Amino acid sequence: MAEKKTFYITTPIYYPSGKLTIGNAYTTIAADAMTRYKKSRGFDTFFLTGTDEHGLKIEQKAEAQGIKPQEFVDKMAASYKDLWKMLDVSYDRFIRTTDEDHVKAVQKIFEKLLKQGDIYLGEYTGWYSVEDEEYFTESQLAEVYKDDDGNVIGGKAPSGHEVRLVKEPSYFFRMSKYADRLLQYYKDHPDFILPHSREKEMVNNFIKPGLEDLSVTRTTVDWGIPVPSDPKHVVYVWIDALSNYITALGYGSDDDSLFKKYWPADVHLVGKEIVRFHTIYWPIMLMALDLPLPKQIFGHGWVLMRDGKMSKSKGNAVYPEMIVKRYGLDALRYYLMRAIPFGSDGIFTPEDFVERVNFDLANDLGNLLNRTVSMINQYQDGHVAPIAADQDEFAQDLIKTAKETIAEYQKQMDALHFSQALDSVWKLISRANKYIDETTPWTLNKEGKSEELSKVMSNLAESLRLVAILIAPVMTQSPVKMFEQLGLDWNNEDQKKLEFGAFDWNIKVTEKPTPIFPRLKNDIEVKYIKEEMKKAKPKKKTRSQQKEEKHITIDDFDKVKIQVGQILSVEPVKGSSKLLMFKLDFGDGNERQILSGIRKFYPDASELLDKKVLAVTNLKPRKMLGHESQGMLLSSEKDGQVKLAIVGDEHEVGAELG
Ligand code: MSP
Repeated sequence: MAEKKTFYITTPIYYPSGKLTIGNAYTTIAADAMTRYKKSRGFDTFFLTGTDEHGLKIEQKAEAQGIKPQEFVDKMAASYKDLWKMLDVSYDRFIRTTDEDHVKAVQKIFEKLLKQGDIYLGEYTGWYSVEDEEYFTESQLAEVYKDDDGNVIGGKAPSGHEVRLVKEPSYFFRMSKYADRLLQYYKDHPDFILPHSREKEMVNNFIKPGLEDLSVTRTTVDWGIPVPSDPKHVVYVWIDALSNYITALGYGSDDDSLFKKYWPADVHLVGKEIVRFHTIYWPIMLMALDLPLPKQIFGHGWVLMRDGKMSKSKGNAVYPEMIVKRYGLDALRYYLMRAIPFGSDGIFTPEDFVERVNFDLANDLGNLLNRTVSMINQYQDGHVAPIAADQDEFAQDLIKTAKETIAEYQKQMDALHFSQALDSVWKLISRANKYIDETTPWTLNKEGKSEELSKVMSNLAESLRLVAILIAPVMTQSPVKMFEQLGLDWNNEDQKKLEFGAFDWNIKVTEKPTPIFPRLKNDIEVKYIKEEMKKAKPKKKTRSQQKEEKHITIDDFDKVKIQVGQILSVEPVKGSSKLLMFKLDFGDGNERQILSGIRKFYPDASELLDKKVLAVTNLKPRKMLGHESQGMLLSSEKDGQVKLAIVGDEHEVGAELG
């Protein structure tokens, strides 16, 4: 027997930083639908998804919850797996960038690139946004703040988040060396980047102006994969993240049989904002590793809301759990794959969602099934005869539509055009509904034309059988129910041949028809979705409120060491509009350095010299803009005004509060 052709598909690995929205579910459902489709076409498939767990943002989220990053990502990854289970997403591997095999393989990849000179040590200077977890050059900033001399001292990223200047030693990847080869590769593989418009964007905006070498390590982040030969550096996000597509298959580990079998990937599905990383950095990394490039990168659009991108803090995010609980999984999967052509942006509105469920699912599909099964029961005692050899004009047109639908559907699915593929299925559904109007089975029954009636019923049942098979990659539950109501068995492969007349019916329909999609009351459901969205909006609590909610014990308080310190020197931190750097004496003979973000409240910081202040001295040291801060100065805040907690001379330097 000939070996099956393989098909390897991936989603981006998600940052485990918060609850996933229907926007994230969009890519994963698309990948799942494609895998199911390819499987049905006889491919040996591998579907990869996972989580991108390293980096400063995750470190900070964990800190905010008072837990270790590992514990935090463990919790998040488990919740993502639960979500995929609920959405019937059947991946072959869920890779986590903290998985041991991944970590080891990334270290190997890094050392190999370093050894062969593709990676070199330099110094990184740039503007960093913690929230976006992205570094920017000055010209990429949406807004810059300048001091009196015109020097840029801060600014905002395109997302609106604050950035800060970072200067640190860093390893760089020599990207420019591969630019020509990459351009040539695009030329030789015109479908490498889809939709095609995204290729032009890459070439004109990024490659032609000249590729900058990419900074690939950080010394200011702890939560990452250490560089084995220089462990104060951790591998910075993209080398770590992108490698997942090969490490998941065993590249760089002892058993690389999956890698040999499935690589290169057939398609990486990615959101449009990360196309650049996948079509420039990733191919170049692979060229440097002397590995084949993925066959295709598909950059899909975003699921937007009327007021722009979905965001938790804006309170306009829609979460899949709510939709599935009330409307069923298939309604969500169908909506996402049908309403937004893959590659374009689309706007989710509660009105549009309810309308689609009503029109497409309850009316068109649901009614066709319901009417057909009812009539088979009513007129033929539940019997469906084999498909007749001779068919009238109406039937021939129905059969022709079925044939065309299958061909069109496969063409569109092969091109990842989920929405257009479903369009073609709904053409067949409409045609079958029209066929009922044309043949008026109730008249045939009244007139006793049983032979004709039986043909019509079989043709309708056969159309529904095909529809169930065609929607199955996208909708995982309805086809099984449709088969049951038609007296078929979803596990019987003979009944799943995708051709009109390929199944020899002669079956007794036993199930009484039950609507697979109940009709929704428009106003009520639109209101319901809107209210649920409001409920999901996080309510902002002040730090003080948060503290009040939780009592601490005396043991908790005892953990904090607060001491009186005297300020020996204070100066602004270069490149920061916020930070002051203090040197303090705590009476133990050692000078302690503490950074504090109070610059704007003390324009003349020299007034603080010699003052005695309170500081937490057993806080874990952390680096800010490359400087270590060995504690925290206490201050009070009211109405936006911050004042250091200065104490009188009666307090001894080094004295401990308690
Ligand atoms: N960790 C990186 C990817 C590394 S891949 C080697 C990342 N993670 S992410 O969690 O921020 O985003 C993952 C994917 O979700 C992206 O492809 C992004 O486009 C997608 N989406 C997030 N919100 C979305 C919508 N509202 N709509 C469609 N896709 C969206 O980037």
